[in-house]
Amino acid sequence: MDSKMLRDRFKGGISPILLEFSSSLESDKGMILEDVWGSEVHVLMLMKQGIISRGDAKKIIESLKKAEKNFMNGKFKLSEELEDIHLNVENYVIKNSGLDYGGRMHTARSRNDQVLTDTKIRLRNEILEIEELVIEFQKTLLILAEKYADAVMPGYTHMQHAQPMTFGFWISSYVSMLIRDLERLKNAYKSVNLCPLGACALAGTSFHIDRKFTSRLLGFDGVHEHSLDAVGSRDFVAETLAVMAILMSNLSRFAEDLIIWSSYEFGFIEFSDSFSTGSSIMPQKKNPDVAELVRGKSGRIYGSLIQILTVLKGLPSGYNRDLQEDRELLWDSIHVLKSSLRVLNEGLRDMKINKERMEEMANSNFSTATELANFLVRDKDLSFRKAYEIVAAIVKELIRKKKDFRDVENVRKILKKFTIEISAKELGNVLDPKKVVAKNRSMGGTSPREVRRMLRSFKNVIKVRNGDLRKRRDRIRSAQRLTEEMIKEL
Ligand code: ARG
Repeated sequence: MDSKMLRDRFKGGISPILLEFSSSLESDKGMILEDVWGSEVHVLMLMKQGIISRGDAKKIIESLKKAEKNFMNGKFKLSEELEDIHLNVENYVIKNSGLDYGGRMHTARSRNDQVLTDTKIRLRNEILEIEELVIEFQKTLLILAEKYADAVMPGYTHMQHAQPMTFGFWISSYVSMLIRDLERLKNAYKSVNLCPLGACALAGTSFHIDRKFTSRLLGFDGVHEHSLDAVGSRDFVAETLAVMAILMSNLSRFAEDLIIWSSYEFGFIEFSDSFSTGSSIMPQKKNPDVAELVRGKSGRIYGSLIQILTVLKGLPSGYNRDLQEDRELLWDSIHVLKSSLRVLNEGLRDMKINKERMEEMANSNFSTATELANFLVRDKDLSFRKAYEIVAAIVKELIRKKKDFRDVENVRKILKKFTIEISAKELGNVLDPKKVVAKNRSMGGTSPREVRRMLRSFKNVIKVRNGDLRKRRDRIRSAQRLTEEMIKEL
């Protein structure tokens, strides 16, 4: 056995260069627990179907348990010579229980369905963890949204002052966005959580196996039936990476907002010292590297998505070794995504928010122009286009005079030229961003009242998502427990 494994029909050993090139151990070694569980369930199924005896099953499973234990305590060292995790575990079992026992474990299965099973068991847990981190992040956003639901700031389109909004409105837009990411993650989970084990190499098997039993005991939602399709399918990897890429693009946009707003010119927010970095030459610098890295790392995840799509394009049906390229970047992307979520969440906790500066900016650059036009429509019965013309003329005149809407008297004077009379008090209200914000009560608008209503509904959605997440996690746990109970009964 050992390095000669699977080489019975060849003359001599494998070239060390090929061995290094073809080994997937690096991306497999995190799947040993999955590989052991998958093997245990496979063996229980073979026994239930009378394909192997109870005695064989007992011996094999004892060796599997030993493999797991000794891997954890460092006594079972994975061998580079054995290509991948599956051969390492099988080799351990055979050595431990003898070829007559351990040699029966691979009956009615192939590494092609095995690698998929391990990957899917690991990936579904990762998706659940990502969902959990998204929810944690949303909770932090919700706290800030609630706290700053009244904090007025300029709202932007084209990065130009557009209309006033609140900080709570801005930050809750990301809660709203991330709810869709949760939905997408859940759908990806559904695609992942179908059991390929029993598809064997490509064509099923002549042994009378029970794939439904295997699927249930491994906590899958159902069987990926078509064997040829199953062993060649990695669209679930592409789907998960696509969902992760979209999620990362949302995080990157959030990061971009933070980067801009922490600049001196904006001065809306300030990262805490522990979440900022300095410059090696410019002593005054305080850099928002946290957010910049999140923005930058999104490129890695997009890269992984393109990589898997490229691997899949043009592959003939069934298993091809190219498919082994599915995991390395997948695990890397998951790591990047999870750490981005964690670091952003932490970074927000003691971020300073400069309400005065935001309000000052909202006051200083005509952000209430649209509301002035709205007022003229309502109060003076003008058409919106006519009102727009008048307000545009006012803005033009004020810019010429180097004034803004804070000079209410000036605005009144210009309005008079259009034969429009408004009291100073009333006009002051129309031009005040705080008052304008409070009036935007249309569904989904920026008024604190509407924002708070949305926050309540977001909280409810998140609660439901959280409940669903727990249910899926419990399902996996109870499948694990059931496997252990069956093993005890052996
Ligand atoms: N290490 C392989 C992989 O990661 C396992 C499957 C190998 N199958 C094969 N026919 N060589 O995909």
